[in-house]
Amino acid sequence: MYETEINKRRTFAIISHPDAGKTTLTEKFLLYGGAINLAGSVKGKATARHAVSDWMEIEKERGISVTSSVLQFEYGGFCINILDTPGHQDFSEDTYRTLMAADSAVMVIDASKGVEAQTRKLFKVCAMRGIPIFTFINKMDRDANDTFELLDDIEKELGVATCPVNWPIGSGKRFKGVYDRNEKAVITFSDTEKGTKEGHTDVLPLEDEGRLREFIGDEACDTLLEEIELIDGASAEFDIDEVRRGKLSPVFFGSALTNFGVEVFLKYFLKMTTTPLARKADIGVIDPVTNDFSAFVFKIQANMNKAHRDRIAFMRICSGKFDAGMEVKHVQGGRVMRLSQPQQMMADSRHVVEEAYAGDIIGVFDPGVFSIGDTICMPDKTFEYEGIPTFAPEHFARVTQMDTMKRKQFVKGINQIAQEGAIQIFQEIGSGMEEIIVGVVGVLQFEVLKYRLENEYNVEIKLENLPYEHIRWIENKDEVDVMKLTGTSDMKRIQDLKGNPLLLFVNSWSVGMVLERNEGLKLTEFGRN
Ligand code: G4P
Repeated sequence: MYETEINKRRTFAIISHPDAGKTTLTEKFLLYGGAINLAGSVKGKATARHAVSDWMEIEKERGISVTSSVLQFEYGGFCINILDTPGHQDFSEDTYRTLMAADSAVMVIDASKGVEAQTRKLFKVCAMRGIPIFTFINKMDRDANDTFELLDDIEKELGVATCPVNWPIGSGKRFKGVYDRNEKAVITFSDTEKGTKEGHTDVLPLEDEGRLREFIGDEACDTLLEEIELIDGASAEFDIDEVRRGKLSPVFFGSALTNFGVEVFLKYFLKMTTTPLARKADIGVIDPVTNDFSAFVFKIQANMNKAHRDRIAFMRICSGKFDAGMEVKHVQGGRVMRLSQPQQMMADSRHVVEEAYAGDIIGVFDPGVFSIGDTICMPDKTFEYEGIPTFAPEHFARVTQMDTMKRKQFVKGINQIAQEGAIQIFQEIGSGMEEIIVGVVGVLQFEVLKYRLENEYNVEIKLENLPYEHIRWIENKDEVDVMKLTGTSDMKRIQDLKGNPLLLFVNSWSVGMVLERNEGLKLTEFGRN
């Protein structure tokens, strides 16, 4: 029905460790899309690098904000949706959930650092979903690690095969450009002037070795020829099906800052990545094109402003077309409704959406009825999309209220905040609500919890950090008696609010130890509600 519109959509997330160049690369993408005139206005450095206390102020001032959650722009006949995965201090479960709304991921790696901690975590979520992952190795204009080592690092650390689409010639001061394996030609490096789309580059075919030697020098040319032979022999063969299954990552080299290799990357990426993917629901797989409107909620953003207790629910449209004002069914709430104030981001401005298609993300005003993972569909249908997993928190604290008289508010507040998905709450097995353990993905969430309980529920709390860093759900909980497990000295048994048993560990190796000591036990890092 809306095939043309849907098939031109490409919805992806950019993942990286802070400082690898995600913002810079996004800016350059927008520049090509003509969404902004000059690179550099995706988000102010001030908001990207703020300290914890500032963050609170910023959230308070801007009230509900969809800034930098998703950007939409057109390029080369495609309609592109880029999902931002918050990093730095605001790394949280939302960062993971964002990946549930994407159809593929672009992984930005700093060429002098290789795979870093945050990339590793985000990659795991992409791998769990089996979505295509494209690698952009950035900062080639600076001294880089050995190219083979970089690829090795990705393969070993992340367990995915790599296939270089282009190959760098030197790095840092001796960076000469990249060799495009498809075109069998070298694209010469040149720095860009600020504000222009790209610098002047030459394309030198490998056949024309004379000119190539003249430009890049004999030494670089000899190395390149040797390396081409090596990669042609050694690296995984390009197989688009493997890419689509997330088993093979096409790798590109470039420099986002100098705007080198970005447009080439974008062009290849758009060709190789997928149109909006079909999603699993309880009635079967829902095809994005042949079905009417449906969506699922992947993120809820609470308003930090006390004067506005409302929230924004972000939903990913999974099929069909959305029209502002149309009646839809909120399946979990069992109600037919109109979505209020649907919004979308275009580069750096927010606007009300009149229509949107499968692949797009919209944010709607939420009076408190939506939960993460909820399905929205046409009034005459009823089905539920597969839920969003609960991601393993990595920081834990024991929380106690200062004033025991305010028990009720405390329990209500902490439960509501947990329901929004900002924190997870656990209890020691058999202890009732007396002692609550809070788990978060990013430490900033502790501050948010304290702040919100004080400001919204008038409850003061004390947080006492616990040494645990690893949590595991028990996959086969019906077959296992958690109290009878042979543990390690650093293991703690807890349960979530639904009574599901979980294990906490201080050391990662203890997880393996416990698996070894208890035959048949199955542990997982992703919880299913
Ligand atoms: P992030 O969003 O992944 O956290 O990274 P961001 O783009 O903010 O980039 C982090 C730093 O790395 C920035 O420098 C940016 O200019 C620089 N950078 C990004 N891409 C490249 C590249 O290809 N080559 C080089 N040499 N540097 C790159 P900064 O000094 O922290 O900020 P700024 O003052 O330059 O803006």
